[in-house]
Amino acid sequence: MTRPLAVDSVAALRAQIRDWRGQGLRVALVPTMGALHDGHISLVRIGLERADRCVVSIFVNPTQFAPSEDLDKYPRQLGLDLDRLGAAKADLAFAPTVSEMYPAGFATKLSVAGPALGLESDFRPTLFDGVATVVAKLLLQVNPDVAIFGEKDYQQLCVIRRLCRDLDLPVEIIGAPTIRDAHGLAMSSRNVYLDAGELTVARRLNTILRDTAASLAAGADEKATTAAACRHLIAAGFQSVDYVEARESQTLAPWRRDREGRLLAAAWLGKTRLIDNVEVASA
Ligand code: PAF
Repeated sequence: MTRPLAVDSVAALRAQIRDWRGQGLRVALVPTMGALHDGHISLVRIGLERADRCVVSIFVNPTQFAPSEDLDKYPRQLGLDLDRLGAAKADLAFAPTVSEMYPAGFATKLSVAGPALGLESDFRPTLFDGVATVVAKLLLQVNPDVAIFGEKDYQQLCVIRRLCRDLDLPVEIIGAPTIRDAHGLAMSSRNVYLDAGELTVARRLNTILRDTAASLAAGADEKATTAAACRHLIAAGFQSVDYVEARESQTLAPWRRDREGRLLAAAWLGKTRLIDNVEVASA
């Protein structure tokens, strides 16, 4: 299998994009932090359906990690990623160094609110400013027609949609369904941190969220039901739960029963923090 062309500089990236644009081709971007799994590959597949060429960025973005987080141990496996991208028929991998993305003297940071408030931000306050900054840079570097993000990081998807609207970035943002293993566990690069026992517990997260969403859709009290979900997660073996919350699915404003909702959760298993989300049907 042939690996895609891989470049690590913005200049080489732009030269390739210019060439494609000259041929009148549509371009898709799939931003990733590497350690690619089937979830990422599903994004590439959508990119190739929606455009003539698909660029995949691979960059473990330091500005979205707090000092206490897993930046150093985040899995890095560029060779394997390029093999996977070759099999998926991606056209170009953009794998810049930290100094290419953040050269000496870099002094600009985006600040996001709206859908970025609460949920993840209550526990990872630096996350979305870092995500917004790097995603804005990637969108300006690639200038794609479409960019594809997984619904697994549902709040991130909402933040990026808002970012593109607010900054008038001329790109269509596509949210792609979460890819799960046979037991419902959402694919995540961080799943490699889980040992066999933790994996069994991790697989309960989606079941508990789906049951909770069904109760909410059937009219159960929101506070009592989400509190019960936290107890079920602890009983299943999670050490602690950061949040289980229902939100309005488009804006992430507090959920109203007449609107389509999303139930979002984050919980800890040992040193690993898992997130997931499911739809809540409207009344
Ligand atoms: O979802 C991710 O992998 C990252 O947050 C992203 C969007 C590539 C930005 O670093």
